[in-house]
Amino acid sequence: WLMSDNMHHQWLLLAACFWVIFMFMVASKFITLTFKDPDGYSAKQEPLILTAVTKVEEVHLPENKYWPEKFQPTGKAFSGNLIRQPLVHMERLELLRNVCRDTALRNLSHTAVSKFVLDRIFVCDKHKILFCQTPKVGNTQWKKVLIVLNGAFSSIEEIPENVVHDHEKNGLPRLSSFSDSEIRKRLNLYFKFFIVRDPFERLISAFKDKFVHNPRFEPWYRHEIAPGIIRKYRKNRTETKGLQFEDFVRYLGDPNHRWLDVQFGDHIIHWVTYVELCAPCEITYSVIGHHETLEDDAPYILKAAGIDHLVSYPTIPPGITVYNRTKVERYFSGISKRDIRRLYARFEGDFKLFGYQEPDFLLN
Ligand SMILES: *[C@@H]1O[C@H](CO)[C@@H](O)[C@H](O)[C@H]1NC(C)=O
Ligand SMILES: *[C@@H]1O[C@H](CO)[C@@H](O)[C@H](O)[C@H]1NC(C)=O
Ligand SMILES: *[C@@H]1O[C@H](CO)[C@@H](O)[C@H](O)[C@H]1NC(C)=O
Repeated sequence: WLMSDNMHHQWLLLAACFWVIFMFMVASKFITLTFKDPDGYSAKQEPLILTAVTKVEEVHLPENKYWPEKFQPTGKAFSGNLIRQPLVHMERLELLRNVCRDTALRNLSHTAVSKFVLDRIFVCDKHKILFCQTPKVGNTQWKKVLIVLNGAFSSIEEIPENVVHDHEKNGLPRLSSFSDSEIRKRLNLYFKFFIVRDPFERLISAFKDKFVHNPRFEPWYRHEIAPGIIRKYRKNRTETKGLQFEDFVRYLGDPNHRWLDVQFGDHIIHWVTYVELCAPCEITYSVIGHHETLEDDAPYILKAAGIDHLVSYPTIPPGITVYNRTKVERYFSGISKRDIRRLYARFEGDFKLFGYQEPDFLLN
């Protein structure tokens, strides 16, 4: 069964029918339907809206906008973090380069720069920026920034929620939409970044968002993908509950997971490795932000990309980005060591490349 595309269309069609009926029944004037971020923060984190300078002007970019010299503290922005930041980011890139060279991890750290990867990367030509999308780290906010910078809308508030992810309309093209030579040129010259977080906490977040709460209009996760995983990976055949974290872990840790991945289509972006999404060993990214330190990393990225005078990142509600060990332990507490080890074996590349500690409390 060609699940991904079919089910998308199927559900969209069904939704369209209901919507038409709905329109007849209720005066549409009284209703404002708000779409939620399909990959960003959930509703409780909605205050995390970026504020952009209303008018985007032409900016002259300095030649060497990636060089840390730019970050010499000025009197105004003098803070410990600001001095340390360039060093932190240089160390991250150094670690990445070293792990990429580690032949023992080669299969877990390398991937082809395929159409799947090029589909993940968004292009801001006006400011020469490439952004690789990695769900569950506030990507929608970054996309909005880039949409405004590209000029399709003059402020973040003006972007309708349903347009943020509609790349036909929002003026934020995917890198895959360019010709080979245009792609190569951009990969070579542009400022490139993406955001990561602890790999296991990310999987918990994806599981909760897609299979437990599923607050957005994405019924295919529960009604098509979850049954597909349960059919193949549920241990207890008499158990009839919806997808459990254990089923999910067994699917992800299965060396033959690709068989199902193909059927799920692009929906797998929520749980495949960062390596598979962004090809960090093949593409030389300028900065890799960490969700855990987004408070420091977001302004750093804006500055490194040369757009900090055009946009700013709002105050992030306290506690939202902190790694929660208790939560991770709780989710993995009922799961067999064998399944956890298999899961780690698949995600080890992500742990090592981005400096996340091996979760020994789960493995031993
Ligand atoms: C890497 O993958 C190749 C091809 O799939 C396989 O032959 C090889 O044994 C793998 N190497 C490691 C270290 O797992
Ligand atoms: C399997 O699931 C059923 C239904 O929830 C439960 O009654 C039974 O105890 C479970 N069996 C095992 C071995 O966990
Ligand atoms: C961590 O997660 C646990 C379990 O989900 C929760 O009860 C606790 O409040 C969380 N701690 C923080 C600091 O968010």
